[in-house]
Amino acid sequence: MVKVKMPIILVNFKTYAEATGENALKLAEMAEKVSDETGVCVGVIPQYVDIAIIAGKVNIPVFAQHIDPIPYGSFTGHVLPESVKYAGAVGTLINHSERRLKLADIDAAITRAREVKLISVVCTNNTLVSASAAALKPEMIAVEPPELIGTGVPVSKARPEVVTGTVEAVKKINPSVTVLCGAGISSGDDVAAAIRLGTEGVLVASGIVKARDPYKVMLEFAEAILKVQR
Ligand code: G3P
Repeated sequence: MVKVKMPIILVNFKTYAEATGENALKLAEMAEKVSDETGVCVGVIPQYVDIAIIAGKVNIPVFAQHIDPIPYGSFTGHVLPESVKYAGAVGTLINHSERRLKLADIDAAITRAREVKLISVVCTNNTLVSASAAALKPEMIAVEPPELIGTGVPVSKARPEVVTGTVEAVKKINPSVTVLCGAGISSGDDVAAAIRLGTEGVLVASGIVKARDPYKVMLEFAEAILKVQR
């Protein structure tokens, strides 16, 4: 059984060429190497069609990028939570900035994830939305100001108040929800700053996927976590 433990580095593969097909598997193997070498949990979030092959080959947590709150039946083109689970995912993003949902659909997706025992990571854009999401009882909330996504300008340095505000608001509503932050995270220093602000990890994409040496960057992230914990 693959373990999910905090602090965590969650790497979103999005639909980047560098993280599609064979490249997705290579990236996941690098993530596993970093996880084995440092003991820091590194999870990957590939595209749906890559979940099964990755989950079958690496011993790190694999998440889906989205699920639809549907049951078995006539829902052509939808993403069935059970399929994601059978493919080997342990959890799923819900409401990523690039795959937004209405509040009622976020609630329904969290409920379906819970039914099939998938960990819900709800993405939010600000403190207020994070507070609303906390009331829906997901396992994790990842706050990501959309204007910083893909910019290389780290939320943990450019908008620290969004991170601390989210941690405070979420914990007040539901102390058992884990808070992560994301957007623009590109260096170990950015990750250390995120942990110091009270999060239990980061959600990151381009800083790793687009890096010349993704292994090196993931290692830097994991070592920054170990250093800040000492
Ligand atoms: O899901 C993580 C993502 O939206 C953040 O993107 O490229 O700024 O790390 P990036």
